[in-house]
Amino acid sequence: MIPYGKHSVSDEDVEAVVHVLKNEFLTQGKQVPAFERALCDYTGAGYAVACNSGTSGLHMACLAAGVGAGDVVWTVPNSFAASANAALYCGAAVDFVDIDPVTRNLCVSALSNKLNDATAAGRLPKAIVVVHFAGSSCDMRAIAALTAPLGITLIEDAAHAFGGKDKLGNRVGACTYSAMVVSSFHPVKSITTAEGGVVFTNDGTLAEKLRLFASHGITKQQAKMPVGHEHESWFYAQIDLGFNYRLSDLHAALGLVQLAKLDAFVGARFEKAKYYNEALAALPVTRPLMDENSAWHLYVIELPEHDRTQVFKALREKGIGVNVHYIPIHLHPYYQGMGFAKGDFPNSETYYQKAITLPLYPDLSADNQGKVINSLKEALM
Ligand SMILES: Cc1ncc(COP(=O)(O)O)c(C=O)c1O
Repeated sequence: MIPYGKHSVSDEDVEAVVHVLKNEFLTQGKQVPAFERALCDYTGAGYAVACNSGTSGLHMACLAAGVGAGDVVWTVPNSFAASANAALYCGAAVDFVDIDPVTRNLCVSALSNKLNDATAAGRLPKAIVVVHFAGSSCDMRAIAALTAPLGITLIEDAAHAFGGKDKLGNRVGACTYSAMVVSSFHPVKSITTAEGGVVFTNDGTLAEKLRLFASHGITKQQAKMPVGHEHESWFYAQIDLGFNYRLSDLHAALGLVQLAKLDAFVGARFEKAKYYNEALAALPVTRPLMDENSAWHLYVIELPEHDRTQVFKALREKGIGVNVHYIPIHLHPYYQGMGFAKGDFPNSETYYQKAITLPLYPDLSADNQGKVINSLKEALM
């Protein structure tokens, strides 16, 4: 089966991990700070707080934004459930803004309308988690222009977009228009640490909170010690309720080697996406916009004239590991239990009915990509 996504790991990645295993701390050593520095150098962000998944990063980002019981957080239905779950972990409610059918990202005019309604109802969201679907950035400048005057914290879920740029050429992760940017280093993503993630910010206070949440809410900073314990070098104090969301040194060592190859990985994805776009031009499929700044995490086509389920099945039978991104979050039974229903976000639902993700990853060979294209042509006949 040709998978829809796959990591690229070579001997140097293996050696970096083995080196840590043989020589250094397995966790809380030098690799995580070195990885965080390299992540800042790459993105231009002031701070990078590494963590053990994109999901824990989203949870910490919501907590750092002050999200809690009584708040509401908005995101889009066309994403992985983690984009919405993070707010629920904090005790907040979730609501959604529908997507634009062309970009498949948050629809700016739907956001504007929903913000007007929420202002009138006195129920503005505390934070909005915007998702750069498939690696192509949302229009962050337009979104921030709507949310900044209302004091809403913007969190970018850039799990798909690390290594990409926004519409104006700013690197994803630079937090040009947002308080925090979260990414994931799961194996199908731009680079991998196996499991892993990061939260970027330019705000020192947020960075300090993120570090606390990643490590039990415990600090060793002298200034934060309770009175009477300031000079006890062994002392540590829990000053908030945190978690163990730390990345290990093994994972960070892998991430450091992977990061050096990020641009090459994204470049390879772009070339393959371009090839698909050319090869599929004559077929009755809707191709993704050819966004040169995308990190090209996914290559998703829509089938306006065919039964998606049948085409999916035919491709799987031919050994093509197609996938579907995404079942709209509000249609999951757990979210339906909260009162969301079919028809609530029609653009996300219509898109979902037609979407099919073709294999795309840096090591996808020309032969295998040709096989995907020919199999699709046959399946559409
Ligand atoms: C859009 C999006 N957000 C968040 C996540 C969660 O990342 P992780 O798997 O590292 O927890 C994913 C993972 O697939 C994702 O696709």
